[in-house]
Amino acid sequence: MIKVEHLTKYYGDFLAVDDLSFEIDEGHVYGFLGPNGAGKTTTMNMMTGCLSATSGKVEVGGYDIFEDANKAKKLIGYLPEQPPLYMNETPEEYLRFVGEAKGLRGKELEEQIDRVIAQVKIQDVRSRRISALSKGYKQRVGIAQALLGSPRVIILDEPTVGLDPIQIIEIRDLIKQLGQEHTVILSSHILSEVQAICEKILIIAHGKLVAFDEPDNLERSLLSSNEIVFTTDAEAEQVTDILSGVEHISGVQLDEKENGLVSARVKTDSSDIYEVSRRLFFAFADRRQALLELSLKKASLEDIFIELTEGGDPGQPGAGAPDNPAPEEPQAEQPPEGPPQDGDAQSAGTESEADQL
Ligand SMILES: Nc1ncnc2c1ncn2[C@@H]1O[C@H](COP(=O)(O)OP(=O)(O)OP(=O)(O)O)[C@@H](O)[C@H]1O
Ligand SMILES: [Mg+2]
Repeated sequence: MIKVEHLTKYYGDFLAVDDLSFEIDEGHVYGFLGPNGAGKTTTMNMMTGCLSATSGKVEVGGYDIFEDANKAKKLIGYLPEQPPLYMNETPEEYLRFVGEAKGLRGKELEEQIDRVIAQVKIQDVRSRRISALSKGYKQRVGIAQALLGSPRVIILDEPTVGLDPIQIIEIRDLIKQLGQEHTVILSSHILSEVQAICEKILIIAHGKLVAFDEPDNLERSLLSSNEIVFTTDAEAEQVTDILSGVEHISGVQLDEKENGLVSARVKTDSSDIYEVSRRLFFAFADRRQALLELSLKKASLEDIFIELTEGGDPGQPGAGAPDNPAPEEPQAEQPPEGPPQDGDAQSAGTESEADQL
């Protein structure tokens, strides 16, 4: 459905997106995960044709987003990081305006407006001014405009940012529903969020794709971080000997304590750390050696995310840890970021390259 090839974006000398290549298949919910400044918004702006690329290619449904922009963009509905909502209008007026801009007219336009209003459940507020809506409802209006024209792909940049926990659950449920009819790509820097909604996760760090897999596989791929830690009064040589008879042990680190005890950290490549732990326990028991302490350290998807995205390229500004935004933000040229401000009649990035939309 979407093919991204060697996509690269420089802002001046700064490399924000570094040679990204991946493919998105139809009919799944994809999560674009990365810490602040990783390049998610920049990539999404290029994928939707809102921002030019320095080099590389994006194809949507076979159409080149830069060369065949009109046809490609018809297939995409986009909720930008800061949706350009017109605060003085009602959702209905705003959706009519966006629908017309998308080429919808007459009966078809009215039908589509009713349909998307029902889909995002804003019937009760359709005639209220957008400025008077709660953040969650404003976000729904933003999603509704992305749904107009029944695009095959819906791209949502941080759809739950700034929402309260109840609104987050509602928007997540809505996204899951959308995933049944559309290909959905959403970005987030919250791991649990993509884990909860997405079937496939793309992890991006410092503009590079560092992982692209299903949540379960990602977890499995980092199983080497699983550890069994134990203390015994057996001698180090005996410990090594006993462990050599236990399957699925991929690394052992022994520490002989002053009190004569030996503590060990054992890595395993098995997906079942409990089974390895059980075998290890009985291997010691068979030799009548006691395990005085035993604990398990399981790698979570959180660990994987941190391991993959931490430790940056020191040559790149903005190559920081999560929650450590690049010091140069915001830039004058940057597309607008952050939640919409009440009372602001915003046009999508009038001073940025987003104008190309
Ligand atoms: N218009 C711009 N001019 C210069 N640098 C920019 C511009 N837009 C983004 N950047 C830089 O490019 C990098 C990637 O930014 P981007 O907004 O794509 O990240 P992000 O992953 O969306 O982050 P966040 O989670 O904070 O939204 C950052 O270091 C940012 O400072
Ligand atoms: Mg962003």
